[in-house]
Amino acid sequence: MNPLEIPSDELRQLLEEVTNVVLRYVEDLNAQAIMPMMGGPEVDRVLRSEWPKEGLKGQIVPQINEVIRHSRAQNGRFFGYVLGSAEPVAAVGDLVASVLNQNVTAWRSSPAAVSIEKMVVEWLAQAIGCTGFQGSLTGGGSSANLMGLAMAREAKLPANSQGVGGRRGIVYASEEVHMSIPKSVALLGLGTENLCLIPTDEAFHMIPEELDRTMRRDQASGSVPVAIVASAGTVNTGAVDSVVELSRIARRHGAWLHVDGAYGALAALALPNRFSGFELVDSISLDPHKWLYQPLDCGCLLYRDAAAARRTFSHTGEYARVLTSAPIEGFAFFEESLELSRRFRALKLWLSLRYHGREAFRQAIKHDLIHARRLAEAIVEQPELQLLAPVELSAVCFRYLGKGGLSETELNRLNRAILKRVNERGRLYLSNATLRAKFCLRACVLNHRTSDSDIDSIVPEVIGAAREVQP
Ligand SMILES: Cc1ncc(COP(=O)(O)O)c(C=O)c1O
Repeated sequence: MNPLEIPSDELRQLLEEVTNVVLRYVEDLNAQAIMPMMGGPEVDRVLRSEWPKEGLKGQIVPQINEVIRHSRAQNGRFFGYVLGSAEPVAAVGDLVASVLNQNVTAWRSSPAAVSIEKMVVEWLAQAIGCTGFQGSLTGGGSSANLMGLAMAREAKLPANSQGVGGRRGIVYASEEVHMSIPKSVALLGLGTENLCLIPTDEAFHMIPEELDRTMRRDQASGSVPVAIVASAGTVNTGAVDSVVELSRIARRHGAWLHVDGAYGALAALALPNRFSGFELVDSISLDPHKWLYQPLDCGCLLYRDAAAARRTFSHTGEYARVLTSAPIEGFAFFEESLELSRRFRALKLWLSLRYHGREAFRQAIKHDLIHARRLAEAIVEQPELQLLAPVELSAVCFRYLGKGGLSETELNRLNRAILKRVNERGRLYLSNATLRAKFCLRACVLNHRTSDSDIDSIVPEVIGAAREVQP
């Protein structure tokens, strides 16, 4: 027998033991410290081992608990970054997807998977008001943004065959744009100096009049307007740019309109009126691993025109050419995507979205929005704290002011120390943002496990940490 073959009774036992570990993990989540109490070097030392020459077999299972003990807890008091909460039914889907190991390149190597991915992409498009759009699942919002901007570049400044040459193509986005956009602009060879950051209003939305004025000026000097990137949920504050207004400007200047909806677009399920205009855009990224609570990884790019995707991504080698004429059997994701080998990401979505139903996800998103407002109200009521941005979605930016009288530099230093202390205390986890040079504590609620009492613990925790770090 091949040494990698595992007898089915041994596999059954492994699955049962791992199932117990998983169940205990999920049941105990709220009792766990939010981050390991050890620092990085110690965690590294505890987990470091040689690749054993002989297999450890079942002894490996208890060691999974070591990994868990030194991981971030996926509980309702994690408010850092923009991170979903790994709905467990979806995790079961991921296990099945790995066992099936379909390579979702094209129908011929993954028949059911292609049908299911095309269907869930359709559900996602419908959910955000983009019925008729096509697309594919990606590793996340960053790769979806890269793909969206690659399509924009090829549509407006075709360069796949001869390069951009001396032509100057410009991408416009707000000052609050996510770092994946400058990265994409750099990777596409457009040059980050040609990413034009447009100022935002007091609520951190791109100012359309500034955009229009800047585009006129640039066009007069002969540059090519490649794309406008609207944010549907900026990473810092969740500000949603006016997509309708930006679509008019994009049309006026002949630019592609891409929406970075990685954080916020899926909130359209609960707030359809807040997100008008998605149907007008050329491409939009969204992240089911954020606001559909799916385990990593699961992003998505939707686009209006599949032919534009094929013009950008189709470089089919002879060995991969599809030789059938039935439309679905001839379909190949690699003709419309960066990726060739692709995991069966759609299975977790298919299982989780059908298991719980659409209404459950709508309610979960609504809860997050209500929780964020509840936190904002608690901050406003506490005179030692200051809310630093409107709460449009579920990101809450605030800072500790204390009794007043501190300079901006002192406040920034103090709030940095408070953030470190809050996270060291291990009861909840916050991250940070900087808004107009003010260092903020930032809580982002994208978590089906968060309770009212988790939210209510944030203000006392911050005040408690502030008391500890102040001299
Ligand atoms: C607004 C925005 N865009 C893009 C991304 C990148 O998404 P991902 O981490 O899935 O690559 C994020 C991540 O937080 C985001 O908040």
